[in-house]
Amino acid sequence: MTRTAVEIIILPTPKAASTTAARMIARLLRDKPDAVLGLAAGSTPLLLFRELVKMNLNWSKVTTFNLDEYVGLSPKHPASYHRFMWENLFTHINIRHHNVHIPDGLTKDIPSFCRRYETQIRRSGSIDLQVLGIGADGHIGFNEPTSSLASRTRLKTLTAQTRRDNARFFGSEEKVPRHVITMGIGTIMDARQCLLLALGKHKARAVAQAVEGPVTSMNPASVLQMHPVAKIVLDEAAASRLTRADYYRWVFQNKPDWQKL
Ligand code: GLP
Repeated sequence: MTRTAVEIIILPTPKAASTTAARMIARLLRDKPDAVLGLAAGSTPLLLFRELVKMNLNWSKVTTFNLDEYVGLSPKHPASYHRFMWENLFTHINIRHHNVHIPDGLTKDIPSFCRRYETQIRRSGSIDLQVLGIGADGHIGFNEPTSSLASRTRLKTLTAQTRRDNARFFGSEEKVPRHVITMGIGTIMDARQCLLLALGKHKARAVAQAVEGPVTSMNPASVLQMHPVAKIVLDEAAASRLTRADYYRWVFQNKPDWQKL
């Protein structure tokens, strides 16, 4: 029986939050060695990836689908998500090259590439667990505010804020591509489980709106309130604007044994 719930898990530090998220993934990989994992890039999952590498899990049958990629960047570009994923995770685990999927930023035909990506996800048996970060504006993947909540993998134009936020990976804002390919919100919602990790004070407002605000495309992460199995794992700083933080802590501390991680 699947438990239907949105769980808010607040942990004291980024390390504790990342370790907890890593344990959730480790459990999935042990229960289902041929799991299909949705992955996110960006600063947030760095510690999580480090923890996963340390755990020495068996990835030989695992398939992965990344959320997004910048249009126009080759896989070798230092700021591409291809390069990021290989450097920070894939090189250090025994995943098979052909089981890794990341949107192709150089594709000549974006619409048909996006359709194929959706088909590949479906043919793999669908994503068991989708890892998500959150943008300071509430985006998940690169689904910027006002994205359709039913959207599928497609081309998106980044907001000025996201280009500013990600300028650190490119050296300057002008170098940040204007367009990206991203899984849609509908694609993300099809995953059997979602695991959103948010770390740091700069995420606190977006997290509070996503968790305690209305479900709205103005904060795409808020759609997770409608997901059957969503876990929101936060450090204290990212949780600092939640009005019901004490309640979430209480629920987590008083979980019956059979529900524990
Ligand atoms: C990025 C990515 C997202 C990520 C989010 C937060 O631009 N496209 O998948 O979750 O925005 O990024 P970061 O973790 O670097 O703060």
